[in-house]
Amino acid sequence: MRVTRPVASLARRLKMNDGFEIPQFGLGTYQMTGAEAYTATRAALDAGYRHIDTAEWYGNEADVGRAIRDSGVSRADVFVTSKLQRNRGYDAAFSDLRASLDRAGMDYLDLYLLHSPVGGPTARADGWSALVDAKRKGLVRSVGVSNFGMLHLAEIVEMVRRAGEDGPGGAMPAVNQVDLHPFTRHEDIVDMCGLMGTLMEAWGPLARGTRFDHPVIKKMAEKYGRDPAQIMLRWGLQHDHIVIPKSVSLERIESNAQVFDFEITPEDMAELDGLNENLVTDWWVVDAE
Ligand SMILES: NC(=O)c1ccc[n+]([C@@H]2O[C@H](COP(=O)([O-])OP(=O)(O)OC[C@H]3O[C@@H](n4cnc5c(N)ncnc54)[C@H](OP(=O)(O)O)[C@@H]3O)[C@@H](O)[C@H]2O)c1
Repeated sequence: MRVTRPVASLARRLKMNDGFEIPQFGLGTYQMTGAEAYTATRAALDAGYRHIDTAEWYGNEADVGRAIRDSGVSRADVFVTSKLQRNRGYDAAFSDLRASLDRAGMDYLDLYLLHSPVGGPTARADGWSALVDAKRKGLVRSVGVSNFGMLHLAEIVEMVRRAGEDGPGGAMPAVNQVDLHPFTRHEDIVDMCGLMGTLMEAWGPLARGTRFDHPVIKKMAEKYGRDPAQIMLRWGLQHDHIVIPKSVSLERIESNAQVFDFEITPEDMAELDGLNENLVTDWWVVDAE
């Protein structure tokens, strides 16, 4: 269990295990494309967000890239993540990464993730090896994984042990992006990533809107004078998770970021921790073979 401590501001960055820093708060962009994705990204940058999470899968890398270029915020000041949709071999990973860069109109990504462990151990090993080489070549600053469970993390630990720092796949993931919120805590994965020096990034930090009416969430919202979304996001920040709530509403993009001026007490954090029910809000591939 990590210790609760104050979070400074929307610009707060966490240091990753490769020395680069990631803003702890960002905009998720799943299920928004075209003008909607463009407008949401622009609104988030206007509101002070400096971290945008996109993916090949979302079909919005081009919209996100254009919004960043048009925003007036320097590319160097925005942290951009994208993800490899399919694990289908070393060379394919490189061509898919280059296609993502082309669509986004960028010459590097800040973070590139294996979107999932699906595909089996060989495909995962080839994909991870390609991502580590993409980092070595400077196509991406940092590399990580997403939806990796205990088995998949152990495979990477073994690759790193065998390869050493310069061999194939010889780097620990900078982050593991999994579904994380009070109702799905993945404690085993969080602990394992802690040992690996891998930061936890919370997808679905709002439980995708499915638990705003839970009595404990409502009670905390009332106690702190916040809305349920702000309680759930603050819970993630106080656990040192990176949180990337998605919204297409300009109002909610702003309100979701108003989470740096209050603190949930340790007792209330413990009560929120107790809500875990391994809730599945979207896909669940942490146990994929
Ligand atoms: N790696 C993965 O496999 C994976 C999987 C899923 C998601 N992700 C990433 O994580 C991001 C966040 O996850 P998510 O989009 O699935 O879910 P989420 O951020 O937990 O929830 C988004 C939902 O909550 C609503 N919402 C947002 N703010 C709200 C507020 N203040 N009050 C009420 N409703 C609110 C949104 O609707 P409106 O848009 O209408 O506000 C949307 O329906 C994604 O966008 C994506 O970037 C990654």
